[in-house]
Amino acid sequence: MKAILLAGGSGSRLYPLTQVASKQLQAVFDKPMIYYPLTVLMAAGIREFCLIATPSDLPRFGQLLGDGSRWGISIEYREQPTPAGIGQAFLIAEDFIAGGHVVLMLGDNIFSGGDDFPRAMAAFRGGATIFAYHVKDPQRYGVVEFDSEGRAISIEEKPEHPKSAYAVPGIYIYDDQVVGIARALKPSPRGELEITDVNREYLRRGQLHVHRLSRGFAWMDAGTTTALHEASAYIEAIERRQGVKIGCPEEAALVRNFLTLSQFEALLQNMPNCEYRDYLASVAAETRRLRCE
Ligand code: TTP
Repeated sequence: MKAILLAGGSGSRLYPLTQVASKQLQAVFDKPMIYYPLTVLMAAGIREFCLIATPSDLPRFGQLLGDGSRWGISIEYREQPTPAGIGQAFLIAEDFIAGGHVVLMLGDNIFSGGDDFPRAMAAFRGGATIFAYHVKDPQRYGVVEFDSEGRAISIEEKPEHPKSAYAVPGIYIYDDQVVGIARALKPSPRGELEITDVNREYLRRGQLHVHRLSRGFAWMDAGTTTALHEASAYIEAIERRQGVKIGCPEEAALVRNFLTLSQFEALLQNMPNCEYRDYLASVAAETRRLRCE
């Protein structure tokens, strides 16, 4: 399965931070925001990526992530000239999708905990799989309503009066119908090709599977200054308590065997002396010990 990382948008709620670098390049505690969704996807075994960003930010993402080869993955880049909606991603990346299954993930969504995503991707056979997460403020998101048997019966984008407390997070799995569905989308009243309309079409076709994420799962979107700060504080608390990092692409590459241990150790040579490098060095030492090398 391939993945699209969508990292465009205007990030207006984070102004003035986003005047010189986009939202997904901002720091969430000790890493650039885009590291977190990228690592979630790598940990699920995905190796082929297409990153979509604004024309001005695209070179900065290229500088940060390169072609992915140093992490044993490939990253292609595409421009989104204007923020015309999340649904436009499938049109921009049509040649990349090339008729296969694809995951779309938003570059400002941060997750921690559970193996729901790898399991959902491994189990995916067709149609669409999206996720639902209980939140206090569902009116800010796409909201999914369930019937008494737990089947999804409606999805609404930012409803004034939400029919449930289940918001749809920014990670979606689709089969090869998605490009055709995206092509038929009409812009919403706010002028965007809405991802909710894509999901509604799968629901209409009886091919939408909604997976409810459990309580222990953390989902944060870092769209406002408060949310950005909270996400940083959350990551710091977990990392400090557990002594492990969340959102390290290098570590995911090692765990998934995208890199050998020697390739992983070679990456450290090009890093400055810093806490991030110290952490990766400790991961290498522990891996060497466990593998009895
Ligand atoms: P939003 O947070 O809804 O929009 P935004 O990033 O433009 O921020 P603001 O509302 O503060 O102006 O977008 C959610 C995610 O989707 C975010 O990662 C950016 C991405 N996105 C695009 O890449 N292209 C788009 O056209 C839109 C609408 C969003």
